[in-house]
Amino acid sequence: MEIDHIGIAVRKLEPALAVYGAIGIRATMTEAVPSEGVRVAFLPVGESHIELLEPLAADGPIAKFLENRGEGLHHIALAVDDIQAAMTRARSGGLAVIDEVPRQGARGRKVAFVHPKSTGGVLLEFVQNAPR
Ligand code: CO
Repeated sequence: MEIDHIGIAVRKLEPALAVYGAIGIRATMTEAVPSEGVRVAFLPVGESHIELLEPLAADGPIAKFLENRGEGLHHIALAVDDIQAAMTRARSGGLAVIDEVPRQGARGRKVAFVHPKSTGGVLLEFVQNAPR
């Protein structure tokens, strides 16, 4: 298993992109993900990425997170070959998997989230690997 990306909630993408640009890390793509109510930017860091998440709607999960916690670390995403198997294993381990079935995430990948209340405060995301 690998860390696919680290998700960071920001109020606006552009100033955050400038911060990472100042340390030489640049976005390769930005994308609106309406199902999540966000616009995201992916910044490659070695084999992994930083995902910046900007809210598109005032009532989406990222907007709520920003309201409650402010900008900052939002989730850690683990790349898995079989997302159904990862969800089943997490459930049998007693973790609260938020999604009944995987949803369509950024980059056309299937994703599912595990609630931070069951993980010691860290929102985890499973990301299905692209077919190899
Ligand atoms: Co993510």
